[in-house]
Amino acid sequence: MKKLSIFVSGNGTNLQRIAEYFLEDWAVKIENVVCNNPNAYAIERSKKLDIPVRMITKQDFNSEAFVKELQDLGIDLIVLAGFLWKLPENLVKAFPKKIVNIHPALLPKYGGKGFYGEHVHEAVVAAKEAQSGITIHYVNELYDSGEIILQARVSLDENETPDSLAAKIHQLEQAYFPVAIEQVLLSQN
Ligand code: GRF
Repeated sequence: MKKLSIFVSGNGTNLQRIAEYFLEDWAVKIENVVCNNPNAYAIERSKKLDIPVRMITKQDFNSEAFVKELQDLGIDLIVLAGFLWKLPENLVKAFPKKIVNIHPALLPKYGGKGFYGEHVHEAVVAAKEAQSGITIHYVNELYDSGEIILQARVSLDENETPDSLAAKIHQLEQAYFPVAIEQVLLSQN
């Protein structure tokens, strides 16, 4: 049995999709959802999905005790699904190649500090890029720069807006994130 911990800050559409994808897979369990935002709709989704939510403060998050908590739960993979805090070094070091993130652009472009949510799509549209997409990658100590697991692309139309691009990216996320997670779990020994 592989245990996932899913970290969220917002709406939680990726969380929902991942949970539904693994619902009937007895080999994968979402052990908990870790959330840093008391107003996140992801909390409601977790309740409906019957997944325990662990609310965190900055202080908890940066503590050695939090790392220990995840280790004691036997977490095999941490999934960042729209989680907006940078991970502390002790957490990253404790879970080598066991943390994955989804980024709504084709890294290394449009990544790093400040590139999150609609800011990413605004920048891509303003630059008149021909393509954008998603990047699923391992997490290291830096923002958006760990080894890439999977990228998927979409073309931008002539009259593309940040909103219309966001909708296309959303489709890609829903299609690819659970599959990429499954591949990572299978590649673990
Ligand atoms: C997604 O676009 C993801 O790529 C980014 O944050 C967003 C999260 O959306 N990292 P949701 O909370 O899963 O709906």
